[in-house]
Amino acid sequence: MISIKSEKEIELMRIAGKINYQTHKLLESKIRPGITTKELDKIAYDYILANNGTPSFLNYEGYPASICTSINEEVVHGIPSNRKLKEGDIISIDIGVIYKGYHSDSAWTYPVGKISEEKQNLLNYTREALFEGIKEVKAGARLHSIGAKVEQYALKHNLGVVKELVGHGVGTNLHEDPDVPNYGKYDTGLVLKEGMTIAIEPMLNLGTEKIFLLDDDWTIITQDNKPSAHFEHTVLVTKDGYEILTGDE
Ligand code: MF3
Ligand code: CO
Repeated sequence: MISIKSEKEIELMRIAGKINYQTHKLLESKIRPGITTKELDKIAYDYILANNGTPSFLNYEGYPASICTSINEEVVHGIPSNRKLKEGDIISIDIGVIYKGYHSDSAWTYPVGKISEEKQNLLNYTREALFEGIKEVKAGARLHSIGAKVEQYALKHNLGVVKELVGHGVGTNLHEDPDVPNYGKYDTGLVLKEGMTIAIEPMLNLGTEKIFLLDDDWTIITQDNKPSAHFEHTVLVTKDGYEILTGDE
């Protein structure tokens, strides 16, 4: 079932989204060679609680941390640890916040110090692919137009589109209907309605789209060990378009 949020619920999701965005900004300011992903996790945990939120990932299906930290060839769900970030790494940080029962979900991939040109392109193109998808959102538009645009843009830049993992509805649960794939046929799929809230989250790879689950049962990496990037926003469908709930507007 796809839920339609009332104005009151949307207001709570805006707050959940704002805490999420501010946590991202705080972590971005802390990223540097030498910091561990566990330290980033602790900073996020403290900040979310101090702002009356709850980190939704903590204990979600047994997940052991507040954020996901996925470095280089890690696609998603990397677990914070004592690993230190190194100059030239890229790190995807995925954050989930609950505020008064309502969820926000947002991921961003950050450079650590100076990175290679090909990694910088991967970040730029994946962020742009997310916005290509977001621009399709509008009451009356069809769901798969989002994925069609993401995929088209990614393929134009020769990137692998991860297909086994998808975006999703978001609201009183972290994962709700519908699935929001990062591929598909333009102008097909369900009709978007005002008041739906969805997480759009392309995961694009410098090499193969194929992925592999590590023995920790969480961390997903690329099969060819080439770098991967992940950008995600929680987005509200409006009459005339969209509102990004996890951004700064
Ligand atoms: N943000 C992820 C998603 O969009 C969820 C993380 S799974 C968790 O699906 F276990 F880490 F919580
Ligand atoms: Co998500």
